[in-house]
Parts: sequence; structure tokens; C-alpha cells
Amino acid sequence: MKTDLTDRLGIAHPVVAAGMARVAQAPLAAAVSEAGGMGTLGGVSFLPDALRAEIQQIKKTTDRPFAVNLLVPPTLTDTSAGIWEPVTELWNGLTPEERGKLVGIEALLTPGAVQGQVEVVLDEAPAVVVLTFDSPTWFIDECHNRNIAVMSLVGSVSRAIDAEKAGVDFVVAQGTEGGGHTGHVGTMALIPAVVDAVTVPVLAAGGIVDGRGLAAARCLGAAGVWMGTRFIASDEAYGHRAYKQRVLDAGSRDTILSRSYTGKPLRTLRNAWTTEWETRSEDIKSFPAQYAVAGTRVETGYQDGDTAQGMMPAGQAVQLLHDIQPAGDIVREIVEQADRILAGFGH
Ligand SMILES: Cc1cc2nc3c(=O)[nH]c(=O)nc-3n(C[C@H](O)[C@H](O)[C@H](O)COP(=O)(O)O)c2cc1C
Repeated sequence: MKTDLTDRLGIAHPVVAAGMARVAQAPLAAAVSEAGGMGTLGGVSFLPDALRAEIQQIKKTTDRPFAVNLLVPPTLTDTSAGIWEPVTELWNGLTPEERGKLVGIEALLTPGAVQGQVEVVLDEAPAVVVLTFDSPTWFIDECHNRNIAVMSLVGSVSRAIDAEKAGVDFVVAQGTEGGGHTGHVGTMALIPAVVDAVTVPVLAAGGIVDGRGLAAARCLGAAGVWMGTRFIASDEAYGHRAYKQRVLDAGSRDTILSRSYTGKPLRTLRNAWTTEWETRSEDIKSFPAQYAVAGTRVETGYQDGDTAQGMMPAGQAVQLLHDIQPAGDIVREIVEQADRILAGFGH
């Protein structure tokens, strides 16, 4: 299946695995790229030195193109911003044991760490950088100077237009169905609207887990798909077996858009922690301070399989997932199914 995405990046299949924090580490990113799609490292989870090691591990495993996701909003890059005071205060209140557990979000809670991540990524120069929340022109220009393509993840038409103006090469439009931080517009309404609004190629995201989703995305005008939830249920994804099992067992209505873990709306599996905060939303702190309020809960789902309190990002298409497979098989199955469907349309 040739598209603007496969042609520009030199990949076989228009399937990109999302840069999921914690879940998408080197083994998953490398496996997807090796299968002819493109894997994305969830770069936000790593302090700068660990990020470099992770990128180098991918390079050792595959010589195919891969991407790295980063969050570079001004709230994280401006170390003088008042936002850091509550974060530092809360962080200092945690026991050493609790802090040790928070390895996956340390970079978001450490002033200066995001600048370090930026330096590492520019130095290691992956084929693609994927930006979430903000697409600052200074960073896009730095990427282009090093021949790195830039994608921006957006949840609305206005954000897509802003990202194109800032100079990105691709827009990933994510509907509210998607797992993790997400907006309020559904995929079916969002994708064609973004395709109409920008001239750069668009990737469709949010609720896509199989070849039917890829075929539908192509019909809506997308040049490929960006998929998160499907790859949680892969052998290579990081995450406790109990979290993956909850993803397999859950139905669409078991996910909830909650600010209780990070301060921003995040689609996650409903549990005792999200339910408790449904009635206390006015007490929720802003991003990233709420991370420190949730404390080790942002990690215990992944690390210990704590399904009652732990954060378990997942999208509404969990309903369609029934097994855990090697990531490469997932890529191949999706493309074969989409090819069959789209070929049928020709008759
Ligand atoms: C476990 C998990 C972690 C995520 N972490 C990130 C992240 O760190 N950065 C990001 O841009 N998006 C993140 N997302 C959102 C994905 O990039 C993607 O847009 C979303 O998963 C697409 O919808 P789907 O889950 O229905 O495939 C995450 C999603 C999940 C499920």
C-alpha cells in the first residue's frame, strides 16, 4: 500500500505505532519498524542519558526508519515557570522509595530534563520526531536542519492548521476514541476535516486497531494510521500482564476521559482512582503537578499490575482486542486485511 507517508519515509506499510510513554520502549519501536511499518519510541519516559541509550538500542536492532515522541510545551521547557514550584514541592514530599518507582515520569517532573531530551534527539537524529501538545518552530527548524521529519499530534482542525503553519511535515489527527491524552472530537468527524484543512499528509488516529480501520482511514483521505492501543496488546510492549489482560477484557465503555492522573484529559481504563476523582474534579491540579498528586499510581499499573489504582491508558477500541501478538504480526495482519478490503472496493 503506497501512500505519501510510505513514499516520503521509505517504509513498506503506512502503519505507525504510537509513541506511548512507558509502553513503547525500544523493543516495540524496533519490532514495528523491522516489520515494515514505523515504530515510535515513547521518549517522554526517559531522562536524557536513558533516552540516548534507548535510541541506540533501536539502532542496533533495526536499520529501518523509526520515530521518537517528545513533549516540548513551554510549561516544560521554561524552567523559571511557576508551574515547577508545586511540582518540586510535591516531588520532595515523596519517599525515596516512591520516587524510585516514578522512573517513567521523572523527566516530566525534573526542571531541565526536557531540554536534555531535545539535545539527545537532535544529536541522535531519528528519521522522525513526533511532537505532542505544541509544535514550536525553533524545534521544527532544528529537526529540519538535521534532515529529521516532524509530525505533530493534534486533536482539532485549528491545532492542525497551527502545526502546518509552524512547518511540520505530517499531521497526526487523533480522535477522542484514542487512548492516552486526547481531545473531544471523534475520529470519523476529525480526519476528513483535517485532511481538508491542511496540505501536508495526515495520519489517522483514535480507535484504529485493525485492517478495517486502516482501510477506513484511507477512504477518509489519510496517508496512514497511528495506532496506540492495539500495540499495548503486543509481546514487545512494556507493561504488566494484568494491565494487558485488562485491555483484552475491557469493553469500550470501560474507558474514561479523566484528568486524575496527569491534570490533562487522558483516556484510561476506569478504576477506583478515576471514580474517586469524578466527584472531585475541582481539586485536580494542572499538568504536570497532578502527576505528583497521583504519585506512584501513574506507574503501578504498568509495573505491578495494580488495576484498582494504577493508570492504564487505553482507547475505546479495546472492545476489538482479543489476543496478545508479536508486533510484527500485528502490522502484517492489518495491512493484509486493509488490502483485501480496498481491493474489493474496485469490483
Ligand atoms: C498507553 C498509552 C500511552 C500513550 N502515551 C503517549 C505519549 O507519551 N505521547 C503521545 O503523544 N501520545 C501518547 N498516547 C496517545 C497515542 O499517541 C495515540 O494517539 C493513541 O493511542 C491513538 O489512539 P488508539 O489508542 O485508539 O490507537 C498514548 C496512548 C496510550 C494508549
